[in-house]
Parts: sequence; C-alpha cells; structure tokens
Amino acid sequence: MRKIIVTIDGYSSCGKSTLAKKLASKLHYKYIDSGAMYRAITLYFLRNRIDWNDQSAVDNAISNIELHFEVNADTKQSEIFLNGENVEYVIRDLVVAEKVSEVAAVKEVRTFAVAAQQKLGDAKGIVMDGRDIGTTVFPNAELKIFLQADPAIRVTRRFKELHEKNPAVTIEEVKHNLEMRDYIDSNREISPLRKADDAIILDNTDLSPEETLNKAYELVLTMKSRPHKA
Ligand code: CDP
Ligand code: CDP
Repeated sequence: MRKIIVTIDGYSSCGKSTLAKKLASKLHYKYIDSGAMYRAITLYFLRNRIDWNDQSAVDNAISNIELHFEVNADTKQSEIFLNGENVEYVIRDLVVAEKVSEVAAVKEVRTFAVAAQQKLGDAKGIVMDGRDIGTTVFPNAELKIFLQADPAIRVTRRFKELHEKNPAVTIEEVKHNLEMRDYIDSNREISPLRKADDAIILDNTDLSPEETLNKAYELVLTMKSRPHKA
C-alpha cells in the first residue's frame, strides 16, 4: 500500500507525540519527534555554555552536533541520541523546556533541524510532529493534522506527567512554561507555529488518546481512499 507523510502540529502538550506514536505504530510507519531535536540542541548549548545570540558560536556548535534516532528494543519507542548519547529522558526536563523556544527561534538552528527532518522524510511512511512540519518541513505532506486542546487541559496533562517524575515541579511553573513557549513559538520570525491552510483541525480536549487515534486513523483512511495525484 502507498506510504504517505503525516504531519501533526500544534501548541505544547495537546497530545501530539502521544498521537504520533500511536498512529505510526498502527500504520507501521516511523515516528519522528521534531521537538526532541530542538530539545537536544538546547541541551548541548546549555551543557557547553553556548550563547545562542552569537552567530559564530552557534555555527561552530552546530557543526559539532550529531543527532539520530534509534528504536529502543524493549519499549519499541524511538529515542534521540546526541553525539552518541541517549538523551531521550534528560531533554524532557523543565531546565531544557525553559530555554528550548529561544534556541528554536535561532535561524541557524532551524536550518540545521529542518534539513535533518526533511532527510528523514525521504523514505515516506513517517509521522512527524512539531510546530512547522505541515507548513515548512513537509508542505506537500499528504495528510496534515493540527491538533488542539483547551489550554487548562494541556497544563493539567503536562503537570501530571512532570510531577510524576519530579514531585518538586509546581503547576504554576508548568503553566508559565507552556504559555511562554506557545507565545515565542507563535511569534518568532522564522516558521512560526500556525495551522497550514490545508491542515485538518482535530480537537482532543474531551478525547482520550485512544479516541484521538481513532479519529486520526479515519482521516488517514479517507485520505488514502482518494485518487492518487502523480
Ligand atoms: O512536547 P512539547 O509540546 O512540550 O514540546 P516539543 O514538541 O518537545 O518541542 C519543544 C520546543 O521545540 C517547542 O516549544 C518549540 O520551541 C520547538 N519546536 C519547534 O520550534 N519546531 C518544531 N517543529 C518542534 C519543536
Ligand atoms: O506532544 P505534545 O506536547 O503535544 O503532548 P504529549 O506529550 O503527547 O501529551 C502531553 C500529556 O497529555 C501526556 O502525559 C499524555 O499522556 C497526555 N494526554 C492525555 O491525557 N490525553 C490525550 N488525549 C493526549 C495526551
């Protein structure tokens, strides 16, 4: 059966990666978490004290970064590696979340990440989530989903997740982080977060992950039943 590219964009914590993982698994496609790439680059900058407002420091740092994904043999989930180190878990920390939107707004960072994402898409049969996947990375993707959920629900969902890992995290911190990132992501100069004109809105405020998956899967089937344009 013809393989396609599915893009899932939206604000923070609306369930993009949850949906993208489930959909990729159901379709036997690859899942690519573009946000993990920006988070891994941010981790590298923080660890090496790179000033992301200094263009030559950024250029030099990027030339020393190698990112790739590997599927974990136990969990079967794709995990990100930064210069050979598995950083899948450490990049989820609030310390990284606090700076990632600033780093992701830097032109050289986006050029590097977008090129790597487009290369991963050469194979087709992928589900990629992020902010600009339907608008900039794969403007010709066969199916584009713009996922959304009420802000209060998004904060509750992300707080639950982070609080389980670190009980010191407060709901105010999480709320502030989400609001700040959504603001920076939507207002930056280069490929800001916005719905692609041909993206389909899916609101999962009142849906479970399973129900969201079923709706998205229906969209894939509908898309695939349409005649294929060469
Ligand atoms: O999971 P969550 O929505 O919290 O964030 P993420 O997908 O891990 O992305 C982290 C950050 O990376 C976002 O807040 C954006 O600043 C940036 N990002 C981006 O600029 N473009 C993308 N395609 C994906 C993420
Ligand atoms: O990738 P994104 O930041 O958009 O969100 P996520 O990491 O997939 O989901 C954020 C949190 O919401 C996770 O803890 C999910 O388990 C939870 N979630 C949910 O409760 N209900 C959904 N329909 C989707 C996600």
